[in-house]
This record gives sequence, C-alpha cells and structure tokens, in this order.
Amino acid sequence: VAPLLLGSMLGYAGLGRQIRDIEEKDRALEVVVQACKRGRSITRGLLTFARRQEHHRAMADITDAVVETLTLVEIDLTKSHIKVVRELEPIPLTVCDLGQLSQVVLNLITNARDAMKPGGGTLTVRLRERRDLIELSVSDTGSGIEEEIRDKIFEPFMTTKGALGGSQTPGTGLGLSVSYGIVQDHGGTIDVASAPGQGTTMTVRLPVVIAENFERELAVGA
Ligand SMILES: Nc1ncnc2c1ncn2[C@@H]1O[C@H](COP(=O)(O)OP(=O)(O)O)[C@@H](O)[C@H]1O
Ligand SMILES: [Mg+2]
Repeated sequence: VAPLLLGSMLGYAGLGRQIRDIEEKDRALEVVVQACKRGRSITRGLLTFARRQEHHRAMADITDAVVETLTLVEIDLTKSHIKVVRELEPIPLTVCDLGQLSQVVLNLITNARDAMKPGGGTLTVRLRERRDLIELSVSDTGSGIEEEIRDKIFEPFMTTKGALGGSQTPGTGLGLSVSYGIVQDHGGTIDVASAPGQGTTMTVRLPVVIAENFERELAVGA
C-alpha cells in the first residue's frame, strides 16, 4: 500500500510542478494532501493494530517464543545458507505477550537473514539473564548498518529494501518500528551494535515482571 500511495503522491506532486494554471495546480496539490492524509492514517492504523492485536499477557517463558520462531524459520534459513547457533540459558518466567514477542524475534531474524544475502553466514540467537533483565540478542555476520541510517532504522517505512529502498529483497520498513513498539509496551529496550561489512547484533532487554506485580500495576492503572 505505502509504495503505491507514495508513487501517486510523487506523480501528482511532479504534475503540480509542471502545471501553469493556478486552479489546476490547486487541484493537483489537493490530491497530494489527501494522499498524505491517507498515508498518515494507514501508518497509524498499522502501528496501533500491531500493538493492540491479541493482548494475551501471562507468566511465560520467552524461551518458548524463541524456540518456536526458530523452528518456523529453520528451513528458510538453511536454504539461505545460514548456520544457526543457539545459546539459550535458563531464564525466569515473566509477564509478557508471547505472540507479540515471537513477532519481534521473527522480525529480527528476518532482518539478519536479509543482511546475509546472498552468501549466507552465521545467525546467533542468545537468551540469558543479566542484571535482573532478560536479554535476547540476534547476531548476524551480514552487511552491517551504515552509520548514516543507524538511528533511523526504527522509524516506520525506513527501509533499504523493496520498491521504497530500491532493492529486490521484499521489505516495508515496518519490522523494527513495530518491534520497538512491542518491546516498549513490555517496558524494555532494543539496542543495535553494527560494524559495516562485518555484521549486526540487535539486543532486546526486558524487565522480569512477576504475576503479583502485574496485577498490582493493573489495579493502579485502572
Ligand atoms: N541485521 C541487520 N543488518 C543490516 N541492516 C539491517 C538489519 N536490521 C535492520 N537493518 C536495516 O534497517 C532497515 C529497517 O528494518 P525493518 O524495520 O525491519 O524494515 P525492512 O526489513 O522491511 O526493511 C532495513 O531495511 C535495513 O536497512
Ligand atoms: Mg525487517
């Protein structure tokens, strides 16, 4: 949807620039304004949708989300010549939405896979407890992220893939912005460490929330 919309906005904006007649110019501008408004509401809708869909918070082991997601993508990773290393230490249960966290893991793994195209490489998924936080990291030996875009990658529609990014690899630029929203909803953070030409590590840190605290927070919030 976004590339289509952006394409038509660009088309009418370009047309508007060429038109001499003021009234026709206004009409072309109006189309651009309407398209921008639609784009804005689509973006907002997508983000709220991704955050609100199925809120099943419960005491759970995030290891389950990691293992299930890895099982789901295993065949695809093998086809992409990617070796998977799992370093999964036991972690405490925490109140979280496993469905949403699986989506985060999937987004990070998909990005890691894309960064290692076409030659493949090594994907390392680490899960551990450090300083009372659950730490999930996804590392790849791929392209890395150029310094200039590193602080923009969490923005919606920021992509180096698909039609928007001028690449054959499909992508919408929504994976990281949606993941960021989910992690934020869990009171956590995402960090990026990357060396161009060598690879990237994305680290998600989440607080350990026990059920008793969770219920108390809900009562206070109500
Ligand atoms: N592991 C990674 N290695 C290299 N670049 C990455 C990695 N993860 C994210 N990026 C960069 O961040 C951009 C935004 O990522 P994302 O929001 O998932 O959107 P998409 O994957 O659809 O492009 C990507 O287009 C890519 O340029
Ligand atoms: Mg992505």
